[in-house]
Amino acid sequence: KRIADAGDLTGKTALVRVDFNVPMENGKVTDDTRLRAALGTVNALRDAGAKVVLMAHFGRPKGQIVPEMSLEPVAEAFSKVLGAPVHFAENCGFGPKAKSFVASRPEGDVILMENTRFEPGEEKNDKELSERMAALGDIYVNDAFSAAHRAHASTEGITHFLPAYAGVTMEAELDALERALGTPERPVLAVVGGAKVSSKIDLLKNLVTKVDKLAIGGGMANTFLAAKGVDVGKSLCEHDLADLAREIMEIAGKNECEILLPVDVVVAKDFAAYAENRTCAPEDVAADEMILDAGMKTVAQLVAAMGQSKTLVWNGPLGAFEMPPFDKATVSAAQAAGIRAKEGKLIAVAGGGDTVAALNHADAARDFTFVSTAGGAFLEWMEGKPLPGVEALKS
Ligand code: 3PG
Repeated sequence: KRIADAGDLTGKTALVRVDFNVPMENGKVTDDTRLRAALGTVNALRDAGAKVVLMAHFGRPKGQIVPEMSLEPVAEAFSKVLGAPVHFAENCGFGPKAKSFVASRPEGDVILMENTRFEPGEEKNDKELSERMAALGDIYVNDAFSAAHRAHASTEGITHFLPAYAGVTMEAELDALERALGTPERPVLAVVGGAKVSSKIDLLKNLVTKVDKLAIGGGMANTFLAAKGVDVGKSLCEHDLADLAREIMEIAGKNECEILLPVDVVVAKDFAAYAENRTCAPEDVAADEMILDAGMKTVAQLVAAMGQSKTLVWNGPLGAFEMPPFDKATVSAAQAAGIRAKEGKLIAVAGGGDTVAALNHADAARDFTFVSTAGGAFLEWMEGKPLPGVEALKS
């Protein structure tokens, strides 16, 4: 169901779930893609005469109030993007205080609630919290495709208490993904990197049954290298996932999916921009060194794989791209993919907060066929899994 199905919204309050889980450094938003993605829905609802109450999560505070994970700085950043004031519901939670705050604001106002994950019931999809959230509005709109793989109170539970609709970006993302990847042109190359190893590694089990090649980069690659017996020194690596990584490699083998791991890596002793560094084989990383980027031989391997593929699906940077010069592999590979996509030789689809930031940093995002705001949700969609946040909008 779409916003257009909601009828007359004059004087109504629309509760909108957005994904404002944006990259942030020292309290400043460093990439506003996800903020811009919310504009279509927020403006459509305001134009229709509704008051807009935004709900979002930020980070993983696990039901605790963590001041550094407050959405307050995001309210200011979104206000700039929107070109209108955004009122932050400070210390309101989702109870009576929140209700009277929302009621006190005039029609057409935009309000941002505090981090939904400060509530212990959010990730448990608690019914009582869903009901308290629902009490803040007349209709519910989900525009957070990137959080739709989570069955949480603000993405799924709430739909049992309010008429629920898909937002403009949610709809556009689903349409674009279906068009590009519904029946992908083969061979399909997937690139999965980034630092969120434990939350993404499970998805690879299924992904290797769907794609022809899987290139693994970033922290994820270190975990796979370690699982193969390579000593990765001080690198970001989840050693307890070694068995799972081996299982994934086995499943890939059975499904004729080739796994590409880094063949050279850039290492440093300090996790800092411009830290003294060297390039070596993964087997030659010293005990006091950490892998911060892939080397150029690895990039060449990846670019060659792109040349043999018709479709590229990319989630997660190949190194610590936010700290130069450890952005080189990600930037070079992104630009190579962008050029092939622009020339019509590759359908290149990317997703994920950090990935979008990395593609923007490489100035390659506009050349990709489609860039989704979603990371985990995008991969789960790729696997063909039903997304609870999307399913809840269907009935
Ligand atoms: C994301 O950044 O991919 C989404 O906001 C979901 O965040 P999560 O992985 O912490 O649920």
